[in-house]
Amino acid sequence: MPPDPVLESALRANAAAGLPAIDVAPNQGKLLYLLAQMVGARRILEIGTLGGYSTLWLARALPSGGKLITLEADPRHAEVARTNLARAGLGDVVDVLVGRALDTLPTLSGPPFDLVFIDADKSNNATYVAWAVRLTRPGSVIVVDNVIRQGRILDAVSDDPNIRGTRSLFEAVAAEPRLEATAIQTVGSKGHDGWLLARVVSRGPGVDCSEPS
Ligand SMILES: C[S@@+](CC[C@H](N)C(=O)[O-])C[C@H]1O[C@@H](n2cnc3c(N)ncnc32)[C@H](O)[C@@H]1O
Repeated sequence: MPPDPVLESALRANAAAGLPAIDVAPNQGKLLYLLAQMVGARRILEIGTLGGYSTLWLARALPSGGKLITLEADPRHAEVARTNLARAGLGDVVDVLVGRALDTLPTLSGPPFDLVFIDADKSNNATYVAWAVRLTRPGSVIVVDNVIRQGRILDAVSDDPNIRGTRSLFEAVAAEPRLEATAIQTVGSKGHDGWLLARVVSRGPGVDCSEPS
């Protein structure tokens, strides 16, 4: 991909602010952008902002009048993200909500989201997907990052909370009749990982959403 000054300056600002370089890789950012455009997303929800790198990719995919809400627990990360987004001319398109996602998700209102990107604390992934189902409509798409982890997801007895959280996520999604889903592996500059990719198929009766624990 050709160099992109806006995205590169966001990554530089993140590094200068001491943020960890755990943003999505550029090829994954582009995939998020394409996916948002393919589904014609007008409203996007992101859980896990960091410095707003994936947020920039997603916000750029929105049509005029579109909206992105991104949830971030760390006020310092949120501040860096706001600055990056403002520099990109996307400050009015994106709302950065500060707080633990389990606290901010219940405050969300408005029309359903067309796309939800989940990339925060992995141990809560199953609960985040339950919230995503509540906040979307049939046809919406839900993406969860880091579900392969160099294949470590196959370790059924792992005591790593990220692996356990991700395995619980797969179990919850498999038992959720309102979703059709699969996992895709991704390889990029940040190694071998993958996404859970789900489509909301109905708002009918389903498994009860787990409440914040
Ligand atoms: C992997 S980074 C997000 C990367 C970002 N999506 C990107 O690709 O540029 C995860 C972020 O989630 C935030 N986070 C962790 N736990 C959270 C929680 N409970 N609620 C909201 N944000 C959380 C972290 O502070 C961190 O900024």
